[in-house]
Amino acid sequence: MQVGLEAIGVAVPDTYVELADLAMARGVAPGKYVDGLGVTRMGVPLVDEDTVTLAARAARMALESARCSPDDIGLLVVGTETAVDHSKPVASYVQGLLGLSTRCRIFETKHACYGGTAALQMALDWVRSGSAKGRKALIVCSDIARYGVGTPGEPTQGAGAVAMLVSDHPSLVVLEAGKTGVYSKDVMDFWRPLYSKDALVDGHYSVQCYLDALEGAYRAYQEAAGDAGGEGAYSDRFAALVYHVPYGKMSRKAHRHLRTLDGDAAPDASFDRLVGHSLVMPSQVGNIYTGSMYLALASLLSSAPEDLTGKRVGLFSYGSGSCAEFFSGVVQDGAQARVKALGLEAKLARRRALSIPEYEDVMRAREHLDERPAADAAGSGFRYQGTRDHKRIYAT
Ligand code: HMG
Repeated sequence: MQVGLEAIGVAVPDTYVELADLAMARGVAPGKYVDGLGVTRMGVPLVDEDTVTLAARAARMALESARCSPDDIGLLVVGTETAVDHSKPVASYVQGLLGLSTRCRIFETKHACYGGTAALQMALDWVRSGSAKGRKALIVCSDIARYGVGTPGEPTQGAGAVAMLVSDHPSLVVLEAGKTGVYSKDVMDFWRPLYSKDALVDGHYSVQCYLDALEGAYRAYQEAAGDAGGEGAYSDRFAALVYHVPYGKMSRKAHRHLRTLDGDAAPDASFDRLVGHSLVMPSQVGNIYTGSMYLALASLLSSAPEDLTGKRVGLFSYGSGSCAEFFSGVVQDGAQARVKALGLEAKLARRRALSIPEYEDVMRAREHLDERPAADAAGSGFRYQGTRDHKRIYAT
């Protein structure tokens, strides 16, 4: 049985901040953010958007793209590290907004940016084991990345969600059973204490932790795949490599490290060919935590000019704290046309730029969103309205 991604959906905020504007406001050379970090724009959600609304919008796109009925979903898992409640999972809100069946198992997973991959791997095994009995899994990665204003992490914020329909009709990407390598280690590179809305990070150490995890997971993948040896760089077996993208430069550092492990004396030479297309969308959205690697995969499928049909793609997911996984998939016939048809690049182009004072106002307002009284005016299209009697209210 072949199992993998049948459809994908992406949601990003309607507003963004231009990184060159942010740099100037912070007294930093724009080149540091745009070239040094490799980010052009970062998505910033307004006050009617949260992790739930992003997740629901992405999930609806995935279901519509596959013409899948809500009743076909037997498992819904939302991977997130920016949930909206200590107890009720984001997945429950999404179930309600999408009208999924009551015979659907639903829950939330957390492991920093790896939480979505944990959910995906579990869903793949659920389908492979036969427990799905013909039903599909909906895996949603949704987050709003937030660091303190004026901190080094500030230009690496972002927001968005990626939803994936997982089934035994994997018309986008077959994910290869058994071809996965895991690396996990207790490190204090990035965290968010229970009392804080902003993430804390030991920035340069986190980069090293990411690279160590890449090395460990890549070696484990090679052992699991059992096909080491042979001529040339091992990573030339992949038509593309998709890394977790906290910011574009991190993918460049990752690729350089991986090619060095392969024994490549010119490790940057293959970057544009193997990695470049996966960064088109992330560079305009920023870090979306759990969804970042999957946004990069959507970017690859949407923007790569060459036909990837039948070709293998390497995927590296990293979550601080830490857990990482290197796994692989094979692109299916027609997958690129179906992802292109989602019109993701046009959606990014239609967003509105926020001025820096507007962005700072939004950031201040977001600090109190969990207690904001629900507005009386009825909105529509999966929008957060505020709370009533301590309950979150969403417009459908
Ligand atoms: P920083 O320390 O302020 O920046 O923040 P820097 O001094 O390291 O400079 C960044 C780059 O810009 C450098 O390039 C400079 O040379 C260059 P590099 O040496 O790295 O190649 N530069 C310039 N380039 C062109 N023109 C100029 C210029 N000036 C300097 N004028 C840092 C950087 C990443 C530390 C910060 O943004 C940060 O803390 N970010 C958050 C942490 C992060 O994203 N870590 C990534 C690995 S951990 C991870 O991915 C997990 C995560 O997603 C969370 C999760 O799992 O949930 C974060």
